[in-house]
Amino acid sequence: DTSQRVSSLVRARQEELSRPGTDPEQLAAQMKQVHEEFTRLRMYYQFGIDEVQTKVNILRQEFEQIHEYSPIEHVRSRLKSTESLVEKAVRTGGDMTIPAIRERVHDIAGVRITCSFVSDVYWIADMLRRQPDLEVLTTKDYIASPKPHGYRSLHLIVQVPVFLSEHTEHVPVELQLRTIAMDFWASTEHKLSYKYRRNLPAPLRAELDDAARVAADLDARMERLRSEIRPMPDPERP
Ligand code: GTP
Ligand code: MG
Repeated sequence: DTSQRVSSLVRARQEELSRPGTDPEQLAAQMKQVHEEFTRLRMYYQFGIDEVQTKVNILRQEFEQIHEYSPIEHVRSRLKSTESLVEKAVRTGGDMTIPAIRERVHDIAGVRITCSFVSDVYWIADMLRRQPDLEVLTTKDYIASPKPHGYRSLHLIVQVPVFLSEHTEHVPVELQLRTIAMDFWASTEHKLSYKYRRNLPAPLRAELDDAARVAADLDARMERLRSEIRPMPDPERP
């Protein structure tokens, strides 16, 4: 069965490194099998991205053409590579079966939406939340509660149905909604963390902490200007 094969392959792959006596032909056949399974899995998640992206593009075009104002600045999506999917599956521990991996890795598909203003982030999130075919699995509001190092964004895991020839796949997609200032900070932090392999020297860390405060302050100031451009349609929102 599929699950069994994946776990035995991953085990074989790991053991093979320390034991060069493994039958290379058998291993190659197993590798091919698993490669096909991961390719199929990634295809489903790409379809999930396509569905969400269409939804976001429709909102964006509607805003641009009818309202002459779009709360969406840009949209980017990415599908986790097989390599980093396997790496995360191993790192997070647990069964190496496809269903178990899908259960614990929620960012195989990712869509990032950047807005100008904080209120637009919540506004777009609400529009998506109200769509009957999107199921919100989790919400993490790192804008209301920023991470200790200063990261801010609104994260939703939404599940979207993908209609295939013989069955329907319900695909979770990680949505990251943020302002331009939040995005600027996060991408800079990401580049620095990458360069220093997550061991940032204290002075750089302090500089980033400060930049996070400045970014949050800029968002607050821009929010005050926003009301001059377009009043919020929902009076309950800040
Ligand atoms: P991951 O295993 O990293 O995906 O984290 P998680 O499952 O605990 O979810 P979380 O909501 O904390 O973060 C998911 C994603 O948000 C990450 O993959 C990053 O893209 C982004 N993110 C979270 N924290 C940070 C941060 O401190 N800096 C930057 N640059 N990005 C972050
Ligand atoms: Mg991630």
